[in-house]
Amino acid sequence: MRKQIAAANWKMNLTYQQGEKLLGDILKADNKLADHQQVIFGVPFPYLMMAGGAVTEENNYDVAAQNCYEKKSGAYTGEVSAEMLQSINVKYCIIGHSERREYFGETNQVLAEKLNRCLENSIIPIFCCGEPLNIREAGTQNHFVAAQLKQSLFHLSAEQVQSVIIAYEPIWAIGTGKTATTAQAQEIHAFLRSVLASQYSEEVADEVSILYGGSVKPNNAKELFGCPDVDGGLVGGASIVAADFITIIQSLK
Ligand code: 13P
Repeated sequence: MRKQIAAANWKMNLTYQQGEKLLGDILKADNKLADHQQVIFGVPFPYLMMAGGAVTEENNYDVAAQNCYEKKSGAYTGEVSAEMLQSINVKYCIIGHSERREYFGETNQVLAEKLNRCLENSIIPIFCCGEPLNIREAGTQNHFVAAQLKQSLFHLSAEQVQSVIIAYEPIWAIGTGKTATTAQAQEIHAFLRSVLASQYSEEVADEVSILYGGSVKPNNAKELFGCPDVDGGLVGGASIVAADFITIIQSLK
């Protein structure tokens, strides 16, 4: 049974002290998760060990890095490798967020390498895909996201792909307050699952959690997560407000 996941993406927000308080406030709510539910905090690199420590005693709470470099090691000043993340017990890493694609020029090919580095180091990638507004307006979003999966993911074995979490994040909905409707979300999530099924199998596709991201808020999370192919969310703005993220956790199926 695939997991239902509330993943926070703090992006480049909060000081260490603010992050520590936010985690404390969220964990204090004492939301007990079922076996099939998972909460992941995607925090900035310097906070990973603190956040990892904060969740150690919690069942199904974990932390994620927001990025890693595509090379194994070497003279890449300022970069962080998947092996470094593994060495401090980081279990998840967000890969290919649209902000990384847009501001740092990450291509589907580079992201394929990042996925390899994560999997070599037993780190579960949260692979982001999603179309910009002009593609949605042209009605070619399915073709666009299928190409993202094909070029970054399809070299993986069935076993590997089953461990990947996919986050569908339409760029026009990120930080805009404009959310995909439940019908739009369900439609494209079902499509993404069908793309996985035709490349791998129905069984494999059934195991992959597909999260929705883009203005997930306390007032729309339950409806979005209620869609059969929406397995939770990757949450930006609302994940750095304790009360909002607590409600979003409580909205998981
Ligand atoms: P918002 O929830 O702020 O729209 O951000 C979504 C996102 O980019 C999560 O990765």
